[in-house]
Amino acid sequence: MEIKQKSTWEKVELGTCYYPEHWDKSLWEPDLRRMLEHGITTVRIAEFAWNLTEPEEGVYTFDFFDEFLDLAERVGMKVIFGTPTATPPAWLTEKYPEVLNARRDGVLYRHGTRRHYNYNSKKYQELSAKIVEQLGAHYGKRPCIVGWQIDNEFNCETQQFYSESDTIAFREFLQERYGSLEELNRAWGAVFWNQSYTDWAQVYVPRTTYGDGTNPHQWLDYIRFVSESTIRFCKLQSDILRKYIKPGDFITTNGMFGSVDNHRLTRDCLDVYTYDSYPNFAYVWGDPKHNNTLLDRKWSRHLMEVRSVCPHFGIMEQQAGAGGSVGMDAPAPKPGQMMLWAMQSIAHGADYVSFFRWRTATFGTEIYWHGLLDYDNLPNRKMDELKKLHARVEAIQEIAGSDYVAPLGLLKDYDNVFDSQVDAWHGKLISASETELFVAAQLSHTPMDTVYLYEGTSLEELKKYRVLVLPHGEIMTESKARLLENYVRQGGCLIVGARTGQKDIDGHCVMAPVPGLLASLTQSSVKEFTWIGPGDDPVPMEWNGRSLETGLFNEVLTAAGEEAKVLARYNGDIWYTGEPALIETKVGDGKVFHFGGTFTRGTVSALLDYLGMAEPFGELAQIPAECEIAVRRKGEKEYLIVLNYGKKPQEIFLKQPMVDLDNRCDVEGTVVLGSYETKVYRING
Ligand code: GAL
Repeated sequence: MEIKQKSTWEKVELGTCYYPEHWDKSLWEPDLRRMLEHGITTVRIAEFAWNLTEPEEGVYTFDFFDEFLDLAERVGMKVIFGTPTATPPAWLTEKYPEVLNARRDGVLYRHGTRRHYNYNSKKYQELSAKIVEQLGAHYGKRPCIVGWQIDNEFNCETQQFYSESDTIAFREFLQERYGSLEELNRAWGAVFWNQSYTDWAQVYVPRTTYGDGTNPHQWLDYIRFVSESTIRFCKLQSDILRKYIKPGDFITTNGMFGSVDNHRLTRDCLDVYTYDSYPNFAYVWGDPKHNNTLLDRKWSRHLMEVRSVCPHFGIMEQQAGAGGSVGMDAPAPKPGQMMLWAMQSIAHGADYVSFFRWRTATFGTEIYWHGLLDYDNLPNRKMDELKKLHARVEAIQEIAGSDYVAPLGLLKDYDNVFDSQVDAWHGKLISASETELFVAAQLSHTPMDTVYLYEGTSLEELKKYRVLVLPHGEIMTESKARLLENYVRQGGCLIVGARTGQKDIDGHCVMAPVPGLLASLTQSSVKEFTWIGPGDDPVPMEWNGRSLETGLFNEVLTAAGEEAKVLARYNGDIWYTGEPALIETKVGDGKVFHFGGTFTRGTVSALLDYLGMAEPFGELAQIPAECEIAVRRKGEKEYLIVLNYGKKPQEIFLKQPMVDLDNRCDVEGTVVLGSYETKVYRING
């Protein structure tokens, strides 16, 4: 998969989301001037404003945004223009109810909120194409426009589509994928519970069925289909925009949400990917009282995922204020957190950070989603923080375009991502392991990338990583197995966890010893397996005198080759005590580890220690677990970014002289980071 490696922005820039249609026109100019004074150079507009350009079917009006764009050009503000398809107008949904998405039982989602359309309605595609064509043709050459955002947050709100158009398109998708009903019946294991189809007209998107027993292979294909539908709808728009945009202007969309192959979406439709980062959700959904959760620091995991799609990305919406649609009550960011979260994005590769939103709406569903300014429009601490951030961004501009450096990679692929959405076993395993892997890597300051495997992934892409972890790659294909074997043979280190290689591409369990297609590489196999039930005691394994928990699931392993060495055995009061839990096998110049459990913080840190991978940048600085680090590299230049997520000050120790980019001073030795403070150092000169 070709990944766009170059940054879209020449320098780090700040922006905000502005809704001219929410405000009296007399506010526009003072707003834009005030933004510029605070370092905001770009606004995103228009993504929910279909009615303003097509108030009636086929009647196009451009005055409203022309007036705004004239002003933007006069004051020197850059603009990202949104296509409005996330919110179809009432005239449209009333006249063409077939464009609406439906609940699984067929009830249509009516007008009154957003994202209530379906991707597959021919009518919606036609009307979307027309409005995008009109917008592109009319505004495409405006000098202030620098980029286009397609729709808004594909697959947010819902990732499930059950309209009649979806069923028709699903049948076409399956005909293309399988060619015949015989093949479909085979792939779906339709003989089970007498589900075989004898006519394509009998095939539907999943419908309301009794209990939770819908065919899992049908679900897996359905998620693949939703992904295809999303990409097709995005491409419909990007193909049109390409005809009109100025050279150098970019096309993006903002995310990221599930049930879509974001990598292919980006490759096929976009110039750059942008992400919407709301770390304060951690204080609503997380467990703030629990010391071991990383709260807002966990957003680095999402940023790591975004970086895999697009190493130099943008943040289209960066949280600026307290969140709170109807039914949600979130705290306001504490002093310093807005800056911290912006720096978190920048540390992971964002070259554009745009705050959601300029001023809090005084009406509508999001009256409690707070922007930079509050309803009163008066100066406030968020605006002060924005000013400081601007000064900061200017001071650290030289890091723009530098690459994030990670020696550790988390392997993923969309077949497995989608399968884990369908298969409860897979879902639980991967969710636990990825969380623990991320936390352990964070606490030991081991920067990690996500690496997506595709049929065309090259060995060179994998060789960048000293260690790759495939926690539970249940679906395995010949070509991926071959690629992983080559990576190991040529000196790589691969770690696989329980249930790897358990399934084939259709999600059927393989009739072979597990890890299936990887068994000849690992030289190990699984004799038995079990969940650790809620009533069971945790099962430890003993490794070099350490007792380490083996998580939610245990595979009892067997070493099946000369090079396979048992490193750790289960112990405790369990019937498989003494049996292998972790096997290391040398293959060619590299090695592979087969671990029978789900990854826990303890097992990951023991593995990282064993491989000499914990604190890989330990020669630069000693950093407490409370702080995250990022190392960025551009040619000969290297940078160290340190982020303190806590209220308490943290002491770090710089082991070599570095330049603090904020004040251009040389520093070495002990430095104290205040609450939520971040530092950016140039390491070498
Ligand atoms: C995003 C969305 C914005 C706004 C924001 C705050 O998900 O793109 O339009 O809704 O969240 O809720």
